[in-house]
Amino acid sequence: MGKPRSSKTPRGPAGEPPDLSVTIAGIRLRNPVIAASGTFGYGTEYADLAGIDVPVLGGICTKGLTLKARRGNSGVRLWETPSGLLNSIGLENPGIETFIEKYLPVLRGLGPAVIANLSGSDIEEYAEGAKLLDGSSVDMIELNISCPNVKEGGMHFGLRPEAAAAVTAAVRSAARHKALMVKLSPATPDLAAVALACVRAGADALSLVNTFKAMAIDIEQRRPVFDNVSAGLSGAAIRPIALRMVWELWEALRAAGAGAVPLVGMGGIASPVDAIEFLSAGAQAVQVGSATFAHPRAMNEIIAGIKAYMKRKELRAVDEIRIRK
Ligand SMILES: Cc1cc2nc3c(=O)[nH]c(=O)nc-3n(C[C@H](O)[C@H](O)[C@H](O)COP(=O)(O)O)c2cc1C
Repeated sequence: MGKPRSSKTPRGPAGEPPDLSVTIAGIRLRNPVIAASGTFGYGTEYADLAGIDVPVLGGICTKGLTLKARRGNSGVRLWETPSGLLNSIGLENPGIETFIEKYLPVLRGLGPAVIANLSGSDIEEYAEGAKLLDGSSVDMIELNISCPNVKEGGMHFGLRPEAAAAVTAAVRSAARHKALMVKLSPATPDLAAVALACVRAGADALSLVNTFKAMAIDIEQRRPVFDNVSAGLSGAAIRPIALRMVWELWEALRAAGAGAVPLVGMGGIASPVDAIEFLSAGAQAVQVGSATFAHPRAMNEIIAGIKAYMKRKELRAVDEIRIRK
């Protein structure tokens, strides 16, 4: 017996390849796969690595940038866990001016959309950093209000709607010419309230999630592994939780009349199936982080896998992957 034929009528001319491009906050990406902040440097580090095809990526998010250069945290910075990775980098970066002068021209020339991940210790620092980026050639700012690895700033802005709205509004008015995506923390007790507060304060898109606050103990030394005690957990271990958060946030935004706000999902995505799950749950694009460390070609394989899935399911646009609830 032959393979059963699909009862669906194929749309568009037969054999036409699916359109993988997506538009997030007015920025067109050639496909929905973006390198996650902190796991792809400034794009250039991977450009020379054999096997990885950087120009075909949808976008690259830079390592978290701050107004002034930061040396990052002391002690152990990375620690593997079963199915996950703990990091305590502490936002080491060269500062925004050096980024713009030294790294951005090369990153710009690679091809993918450039997304600058912005951090700060207080609202003034965020706003000053945003102003510098506004005058640069980056395509989009990803406002990081969710870093669990710095004492000041970072995550505490992402926990409450009022604080999240205040920093979003300040960055919005300092960077009027750039698309603005706010990166949400999984630690907030009310993700939908924080997300809506950011949208009302001027966010064009939302990305989720950043790492989960976690820790490890060295039982021989009899002390926590990290100098800061806690660190951020990423990788496969967080994927089902991150997926649930994307699903729930998309429903909450829709219920609040903000269903058109694009969501960029991440957390443990390592394969085409993982990425398609997030796109099914309501994300318009995905970011891939920890997986790249173990498998530099992961994003290339994810792009090819999404394309093959769309062909197999006769889907013409990425948006059609979303499950109609
Ligand atoms: C080593 C490392 C450094 C990171 N640095 C940043 C950062 O500077 N800014 C940020 O917003 N997220 C940062 N993240 C979080 C990732 O962008 C991503 O949100 C998280 O790791 C979940 O995705 P994954 O499980 O695919 O890694 C970092 C993650 C790792 C593993």
